[in-house]
Amino acid sequence: MNHEKVLVLDFGGQYNQLIARRVRELGVYCDLLPYDMSIEKIREYAPVGIIFTGGPNSVYEAGAPDVDAEIFSLGIPVLGICYGCQLIAHKLGGKVAHADTREYGKSEIEYGESVLYGGVQKKNICWMSHTDYVSEVPAGFKITATTKTCPAAGFENAEKKIYGIQFHTEVHHTAEGEKILKNFLYGVCGAKGDWTMANFVEEQVAALKSKLAGKKVLCAMSGGVDSAVAATLIHRAAGDNLTCVFVDHGLLRKGEAEEVVSVFRDRLGMNLVKADARELFLSKLKGVSDPERKRKIIGEEFIKVFEKEAKKIGAVDFLVQGTIYPDVIESGKGASAVIKSHHNVGGLPSVVDFKEIIEPLRDLFKDEVRRVGTELGLPDSVVQRQPFPGPGLAIRIMGEVTEEKLETLRDADYILREEIAKAGLDRDIWQYFAVITSTYTVGVMGDARTYEPVIALRAVTSVDAMTADWARIPYDVLERISSRIINEVAHANRIVYDITSKPPATIEWE
Ligand code: XMP
Repeated sequence: MNHEKVLVLDFGGQYNQLIARRVRELGVYCDLLPYDMSIEKIREYAPVGIIFTGGPNSVYEAGAPDVDAEIFSLGIPVLGICYGCQLIAHKLGGKVAHADTREYGKSEIEYGESVLYGGVQKKNICWMSHTDYVSEVPAGFKITATTKTCPAAGFENAEKKIYGIQFHTEVHHTAEGEKILKNFLYGVCGAKGDWTMANFVEEQVAALKSKLAGKKVLCAMSGGVDSAVAATLIHRAAGDNLTCVFVDHGLLRKGEAEEVVSVFRDRLGMNLVKADARELFLSKLKGVSDPERKRKIIGEEFIKVFEKEAKKIGAVDFLVQGTIYPDVIESGKGASAVIKSHHNVGGLPSVVDFKEIIEPLRDLFKDEVRRVGTELGLPDSVVQRQPFPGPGLAIRIMGEVTEEKLETLRDADYILREEIAKAGLDRDIWQYFAVITSTYTVGVMGDARTYEPVIALRAVTSVDAMTADWARIPYDVLERISSRIINEVAHANRIVYDITSKPPATIEWE
């Protein structure tokens, strides 16, 4: 792929991935790479523009992330956001000061004359999140935007094409953020905008066709968006040489296994092997209540079933994985505490006999993966599918997993999904599902006493699942969901709604 590229240098800010996504949404390919990338590597990378992200440090701290000042002499336009703008000021002879209090949230801003603010309403709202600020701009720079607390909310040296902004263009709360970013890309960097999903599909298929010609390709299909899109893309290039293995562990939602078969085998004509392992998983999970044990058992059994199916196919040349861009960047980060042992198909390579892994989506963000899926003709029900954990419903049933509880959960969850979709909320909510708790309560139905496990509803908004907030579902929608579950689902007598954010809770209950 020979696209024009923007380099987003990562200084550790919480919005850095969002900056990269916005740049791509504006039609320019970019990578988010560590701030200490060498000048030689930057030259080699040959970006049309460089963006410095925000970060948690102060430029005066010992060991604070820094850049080689030579970066400003490469003739490549630079835009520094938040910490990035403070770093520009600091490196080029301006001053950064420390405010007594942190400024966080919406601020009124006044934009002056600048290519960056072309077509932008001059008095506006921007989003700030900082303590330090630029108190004096370097020689040769002019101030282009101000707020009450920031004398230099925007500054630039247009001749050298170096721009600093204290506010965050990448968050939606900055009313004209997208326009400003677009002005930087197109007005300053001279980008042409050659990054589209149609181009991506065309180029990938062409490149994969020659690479995969006559070779055996294997894909572990979970039914999730990433593996579905990866497999469909490979199918375009490899046709019948691709075999997808789908393990039905019996912990899927209502109708899910049938849909995978109907879309991928019947509709798209793919070679799909469905391994029915429902009984096996249920028997292995019998009597197990500890969440981590459940996850381990499911992960291990999944690999065994997959391996058995793969052996039947014989030695494969390529194994397809649905790795996406955030997985790639995140795996580069240091060790962090294990909150839950996530199970996915990432553990497969060591157990399957193959020559090489192909990850056709490793450059894409989730929303781009979805657009590729649509481009490939996948139905919305697959492309817009909410994230679903590998261990499936097993971690949404507290305590032991039984067939009876699975059935109750599938039915309750189905009603929840149906009502959320009917209310038109399915695109706004990141994830929504039901949980069977291990708390039993008394109810009264038709004059008789009932004693059943409490069913909890969980619905969260999120950008990347790292943090999440509980979704403000309107009361009438909640009421409809609750009364339908009570009336239509066996063993349901009490529904509660989870109003905890992440952190401190996690999205899933186990
Ligand atoms: P938590 O519960 O940790 O979940 O806040 C964050 C996101 O990850 C999903 N999740 C998993 N995905 N294997 C997966 O592939 C897993 O074991 C797993 N556990 C949680 C969860 O649904 C949410 O989107």
